[in-house]
Amino acid sequence: MNIVVTQPSATPVIQALRSLGYNAGTAIADLVDNSIDAKATKITLEFKCLGNDGTIIIVDNGSGMNEDMLQIAMNIGSKDPRANRQPRELGRFGMGLKTASFSLGKRLSVLTKHKGVYAQRCWDLDHVSQCNEWQLFTEIPDEVRELMIEIEGESGTVICIDKLDRFMGAGTANTIHESSFFTKVRRIHNHLEFVFHSIIEFGKVQINLNGNVLDPWDPFMIKHPSTLEGETQVLNINGNRIKVKYYVLPHASFLNEQEYKRAGGHRGWRDHQGFYIYRENRLLHYGDWLGMFQKDTSSQLARIRIDLPNTADDDWQVDIKKSAVIPPDNAKTRLESISKFVRKISRDIFYFRTQGSHSNQTFKGSLNTWELSGSDEGQQFILNRNHPVLSEIQKRIDDETSKLLNIYLKFVQLGSPSNIIDSPKVVEEVIQMVTDTMRELVIQFSSTLTKLHVVQNQQQLLDALITQPAFDGLNRITLKSILEEANISYE
Ligand SMILES: Nc1ncnc2c1ncn2[C@@H]1O[C@H](COP(=O)(O)OP(=O)(O)O)[C@@H](O)[C@H]1O
Ligand SMILES: [Mg+2]
Repeated sequence: MNIVVTQPSATPVIQALRSLGYNAGTAIADLVDNSIDAKATKITLEFKCLGNDGTIIIVDNGSGMNEDMLQIAMNIGSKDPRANRQPRELGRFGMGLKTASFSLGKRLSVLTKHKGVYAQRCWDLDHVSQCNEWQLFTEIPDEVRELMIEIEGESGTVICIDKLDRFMGAGTANTIHESSFFTKVRRIHNHLEFVFHSIIEFGKVQINLNGNVLDPWDPFMIKHPSTLEGETQVLNINGNRIKVKYYVLPHASFLNEQEYKRAGGHRGWRDHQGFYIYRENRLLHYGDWLGMFQKDTSSQLARIRIDLPNTADDDWQVDIKKSAVIPPDNAKTRLESISKFVRKISRDIFYFRTQGSHSNQTFKGSLNTWELSGSDEGQQFILNRNHPVLSEIQKRIDDETSKLLNIYLKFVQLGSPSNIIDSPKVVEEVIQMVTDTMRELVIQFSSTLTKLHVVQNQQQLLDALITQPAFDGLNRITLKSILEEANISYE
């Protein structure tokens, strides 16, 4: 077949790239993602207003790039979005660095250091427009270079964006000036505290903006004693493990003024209800019910955390700005039923001010329901089987029921959120080594499910097993081999 290679002319492509619909907050978050992907522990952002213009500088102490890596990074579309990403990686389309920067301003300069060696590149869209070719400068202009600090240590990256036409709203009715510049910076500050709250809470990275350390914004008020917290549920949606956990925030009468205001976020309580969708712990989308329900005032205490791995990008249609997702239909059905339940609790609390028992209330001594036990694999929470209430229940029921209860409790224990956080990564394709205890547990659980007619065939049983946090480390073929060996029957 005859072909001809065409060179897209630069000017219209620039316009398209600049109009992807980022706002300042989502653009900056996309750049911070890159620093986090580069394993930075310290990220410093600086916004400077210089009359009608300004500069944005982002410094990180991450892995930096050598000359070749930087050249690729500056390409428009530097990575195939279909390529497998590292687990936990926040990058997606190989576009963010350029598209996010160009949505703010016309010039992007990158100075980076990798293993002690510096490299630099600079895109200036004025120049690209003028020559209508993608000409990339291999040196940063002096007036910008002066603003960029030297990189301490062996590696790190400094990004400078200037000629901030878009950020400043140049040529529009909303051109900003010094005071509104800093109001805008304040909003970005809040946005980052929000989007990266989970990542900051892990304590591995510190983010600093114009001299202020970001303070993670916890949408779930986890530390408040009156917050209700559901168990983590693991859904297997089209091969991806999706974690779902609901929270119902306390009634306003349980909060002091400051707590009330902070929990209301920047949009207010009503607009902060609903799903909070995280991709590798980075918040992508929040503040609605994804079209499933209305944002009622009475459901405003309900917030549901959904955790996606980056392998779910296609299935959930994560967009280029990493600010929108569309859940697959089978996820919607599951989420809808969880939401109905949580919205009802919110309603009850909202209208009747009933508050569930304090979720983190613990009793000393043998009244603890959970106890921490040290084991070979590290610490684990175990259920206190000597709890007086449990002992009383055990006394009143027959052997058969007691056995069922024990199996159930075992699963509650193994599925405890505290116990599954560091679950091993599942290795596919090979049959794994399994301890006798684990094998026994799989068999016990499976026979119970088939006896109770929860599942009717092997396929359904496997689907059920694979979503159990208790069997987190086991892959499908291993589970299958255990079932076949044990000859589980499905009557
Ligand atoms: N701050 C940084 N430190 C080190 N490498 C970076 C940094 N920013 C960008 N990169 C490199 O540039 C590449 C392109 O970035 P980007 O355009 O945001 O696409 P993506 O993040 O989707 O890969 C990244 O994959 C990474 O290799
Ligand atoms: Mg990126």
